[in-house]
Amino acid sequence: DLNHAENEKGSNQETISAISSSDNHISTIVIIIAMQTEALPLVDTFKLTEDLNSPFPKGTPWVRFHGSYKGLNVNIIWPGKDATLGVDSVGTVSASLVTYAAIQALKPDLIINAGTAGGFKAKGACIGDVYAASAVAFHDRRIPIPVFDLYGVGLRKGCSTPNLLKDLNLKVGKLSTGDSLDMTPMDESSIIANDATVKDMEGAAVAYVADLLKVPAIFIKAVTDIVDGDKPTSEEFLQNLTAVTVALGESVARVVDYISGKSISEL
Ligand code: ADE
Repeated sequence: DLNHAENEKGSNQETISAISSSDNHISTIVIIIAMQTEALPLVDTFKLTEDLNSPFPKGTPWVRFHGSYKGLNVNIIWPGKDATLGVDSVGTVSASLVTYAAIQALKPDLIINAGTAGGFKAKGACIGDVYAASAVAFHDRRIPIPVFDLYGVGLRKGCSTPNLLKDLNLKVGKLSTGDSLDMTPMDESSIIANDATVKDMEGAAVAYVADLLKVPAIFIKAVTDIVDGDKPTSEEFLQNLTAVTVALGESVARVVDYISGKSISEL
């Protein structure tokens, strides 16, 4: 049956890539972006179109934009607007669901999670900086029982991309994820323990699913607000969102240009 054939194809591909990883060019990428404002400039840059026959379950707000760009099959997946409230479906629950559904449907060679983040000036972050995350972890899953504590933190490394980081001159820092835009004192101590430079609401959830299904993932985060500064986060975030989204779009476009024609092991 078809499912069986797909599975066969998958395992053959794995065997082939294990034998000759240097000749295994990336062909399909999935870019997970939580907010419409962040997604649309890139939809434009890559000249993608909305898939009106999307592979996602009927009734979900999840949106797939797709097209061919510089030899790559590029997909931008946006979890869409909450069906009841009409705002972007931000946060870890939607992010993990769309990452899972997109991997199942599109079998990407690479996932990019792109979005905005809060930055810590104590760790060198400034508004408009674009970071590639060297590691991601959660800061709001506190389970103070041995080993469950580590499960809660959910630390994962991004896929190693030394050449990409060097050639594109991206800032590198650790990313901490939680389901709140603000930061409680408890979150703050976990973020410090995570040694994070940037704070978002999706990264570690995307990392969890990518790791589960063994798809390499990279995290590109642009700073809209300084968490350890004196401005209220929500005001600073909304004030800078549009401008910082332009910087994010430019960086993601440079990353995708760089990926074109390369294999994972060349990144
Ligand atoms: N996205 C943008 N700014 C953020 C912050 N301060 N915390 C979490 N996610 C963010």
